[in-house]
Amino acid sequence: MGLFSNKKLLVGVTGGIAAYKTCELVRELRKEEAEVQIVMTKAAQKFVAPLTFETLSDREVLVEMFPQSKSVATRHVDVAQWADCFVVCPATANILGKVAAGIADDLLSTMIMVAGGEKTIFCPAMNSNMYANPIVQRNIETLQRLGYSFVSPEWGELACHAEGLGRLASLERILGKIKHQLLGSEELKGVRVLVTAGPTQEPIDPVRFITNASSGKMGFALAEAAAIRGAEVTLISGPTNLRPSEDIHFREVRTTEQMYEAVHEVYPNTDVVIMAAAVSDYRPSVYSEHKLKKSDNSIVLTLEKNPDILASLGKNKNGRILVGFAVETTDELKHGKQKLKAKNLDLIVVNNPKQRGAGFATDTNVVTIIDRQQHVESLPKLSKPEVAQHILNRIVELIFEAKSKK
Ligand code: C5P
Repeated sequence: MGLFSNKKLLVGVTGGIAAYKTCELVRELRKEEAEVQIVMTKAAQKFVAPLTFETLSDREVLVEMFPQSKSVATRHVDVAQWADCFVVCPATANILGKVAAGIADDLLSTMIMVAGGEKTIFCPAMNSNMYANPIVQRNIETLQRLGYSFVSPEWGELACHAEGLGRLASLERILGKIKHQLLGSEELKGVRVLVTAGPTQEPIDPVRFITNASSGKMGFALAEAAAIRGAEVTLISGPTNLRPSEDIHFREVRTTEQMYEAVHEVYPNTDVVIMAAAVSDYRPSVYSEHKLKKSDNSIVLTLEKNPDILASLGKNKNGRILVGFAVETTDELKHGKQKLKAKNLDLIVVNNPKQRGAGFATDTNVVTIIDRQQHVESLPKLSKPEVAQHILNRIVELIFEAKSKK
């Protein structure tokens, strides 16, 4: 089941060049099984043809306030009320100004007026001078005060070739905001969760390193799932291509030793740790300052042991909940149970990357969760965000049990 199945999304497209990026947003929303209705302003149709959005959303695109052929006088009301969430992407200075001033002179602005602030998210994108203009900033402040949400633009190269603040936020950040709006809860409010993700890299020389195939997807999905439930989340990740949503404290590290330091820094102020990182157990004993030269002989690389981060946390638990991951290609359950005990964990999530749909670089995972009572829960093949939800459910149960014992 997709993350947004049964959810209804209204996507308003206004006339900025970033409108082409909204096509990708719609694809992602559809992938997660959201129903998507597109509304376009006149100017937006100059940038992307309605047919493109129609194809991506599998629905007729709405453009006219008063379409001649149909009697739909109250359509702006019906559609705005139908939606669970209304994303205006990209949002131009014009639409922000109109809504802030109470103007409803076309289909999109009228629908925003009906939907109101609670379910509307603006994703502004414009030239940096426009974005910095005090009028635009005042309009954004007004709208925020009235309860409208924003995914702020980013710094970078703009369509006008200048560099500045105004580029549409990344897809990940926009999707993160939508997730919060649609699925957010307060279940983990006040709980401080530390998640680790990705691989680590252990340098051999300035251009070579030892690593593994971890993409970081599982750890990032866990961080997002915890944040959606209202937790205060810190994500410490090895090098990946991923970026978390805005409300997650994010730190990127490279080596296992750096991850060890970062984790121990945060640990005293943490209630739950989920170590999803595929940490490198060994590092080269000697780091060569210069690129190793090729020779005719074979070379021997001596490796030394890295610290076991999770085991070190297990020695100083103090009521915290610790969750580990184990990648095992043989005797998964036996090894999983041993690790749970040896590292003093509350849950261990075991997976075998040799199984179809499981492991590192995939979008899905097939995992078994083992708890301290040695109870084994085997999950079917699920998307990583769905696996994350299951793990979070188990963590919520553990928090509840700990509270009821107090
Ligand atoms: O012992 P093994 O490496 O299989 O244990 C896996 C679990 O321990 C994972 O949760 C991983 O993040 C964590 N780990 C660690 N430090 C290491 C190696 C693994 O925290 N050096």
